[in-house]
Amino acid sequence: MALNLTENRSQIRWGIVAFAVLIGIVSIFYTQDLVQEIAEREQRQIELYAKGLEFIGSSNLTGDYTFLMDEIIEANHTIPVIMTDQDGNPIDSRNLNAPENPEAQDKFLRKQLKRMKKLHSPVKMQIDTELTYYVYYSDSELIRRLQYFPYVQLTFIFIFFVLVYFIFRAARQAEQNSVWVGLAKETAHQLGTPLSSLMAWVEYFKVDEDFDQSIVTELEKDIARFQMITNRFSSIGSVPTLKPEDVYLTASGIVEYLKKRVSSKVKFRIGIEPYADAVAPINKPLFEWVIENICKNAVDAMSGRGEIEIYIRTTKDDRKIYIDIKDTGKGMSPSKFKDVFRPGFTTKKRGWGLGLTLVKRIVENYHDGKIFVLRSEVNVGTTFRIIIPKEDGVPIEINTMY
Ligand SMILES: Nc1ncnc2c1ncn2[C@@H]1O[C@H](COP(=O)(O)OP(=O)(O)O)[C@@H](O)[C@H]1O
Ligand SMILES: [Mg+2]
Repeated sequence: MALNLTENRSQIRWGIVAFAVLIGIVSIFYTQDLVQEIAEREQRQIELYAKGLEFIGSSNLTGDYTFLMDEIIEANHTIPVIMTDQDGNPIDSRNLNAPENPEAQDKFLRKQLKRMKKLHSPVKMQIDTELTYYVYYSDSELIRRLQYFPYVQLTFIFIFFVLVYFIFRAARQAEQNSVWVGLAKETAHQLGTPLSSLMAWVEYFKVDEDFDQSIVTELEKDIARFQMITNRFSSIGSVPTLKPEDVYLTASGIVEYLKKRVSSKVKFRIGIEPYADAVAPINKPLFEWVIENICKNAVDAMSGRGEIEIYIRTTKDDRKIYIDIKDTGKGMSPSKFKDVFRPGFTTKKRGWGLGLTLVKRIVENYHDGKIFVLRSEVNVGTTFRIIIPKEDGVPIEINTMY
């Protein structure tokens, strides 16, 4: 049984990415088209400009042609132009902000000319057959800005999508948190009533001499188990209190408990690095739940027989504790290393796929630690690693959201 949302979600994600790319491509092509059209217009404007100059320059000009000067030649406020003589020496320029100093101006214009030569071929001007000039030009500011536009737009789209992604993720996490916490609280609460009633019954049977006292002992064991479950649920449903505990002893306790409940063909081993001080701030009921869940998965991964080895050690700087849980089960391929922690991921007929999700939550959110598949090989076995910080005087920040 699987709650399979993961595949769908990644499809949606790819859909959004494809959509963003499409917007990008369309806007790049569209602006390219606009740029092309404006560039053609500017070329015609320059040709007209050159013609105007040619006309005004010719000697057999009669009448008043000031309008030509005003409307065509002076009207060019946008397109940078340089006019050269027939040997290519700049003699005049427009819209270029050339320096005043003649020497600097010449140098500047020659440099601009070089750039313009690469952009467009010049317009030739012929005045009275013997005089030849050339008009060089480059793109107006408008074109340059337009060319940047799609990239600016894409940057904004990108930022927008990133923001949306993080907002949705935070919202989803907050929602998941409230579901976990609420469900756990409710469960602990509901279990509380029958539990206290059972405890009262046991007290009653204890003093009843006709009642078989060996049954009372068994009942007490079951109640203890019941209490443990309630404890776990109420711990995950409230702000967990962390207390310094010996991680090795805590894990050993749960191993003893599990040993009695699984096939004797599954061998447990637990070890600790010599002289290691494995005391860390933990929430005992939750931490036990973590070890139990991982060990139960390990048992499930075996076909009835195998070994589970827990090994505990501290890091060299003595700030963290490593807990490696190794099994000789069926293993998994590396592509599953992350998937196993997702809610709903299971390969079992009767699995819920929530065990490791819960484990990850407990380790990361409640203990500020990390958990991951250290290694795994199909048909060989799997090792999970838990890393939790040791107490170092600094209070551990717990990033749960309530
Ligand atoms: N020790 C392991 N060896 C091999 N596969 C594992 C092991 N632990 C977990 N898995 C895989 O991860 C899946 C998810 O585990 P879990 O979240 O505990 O859910 P469930 O146990 O309900 O399937 C399991 O179905 C299994 O495929
Ligand atoms: Mg499980």
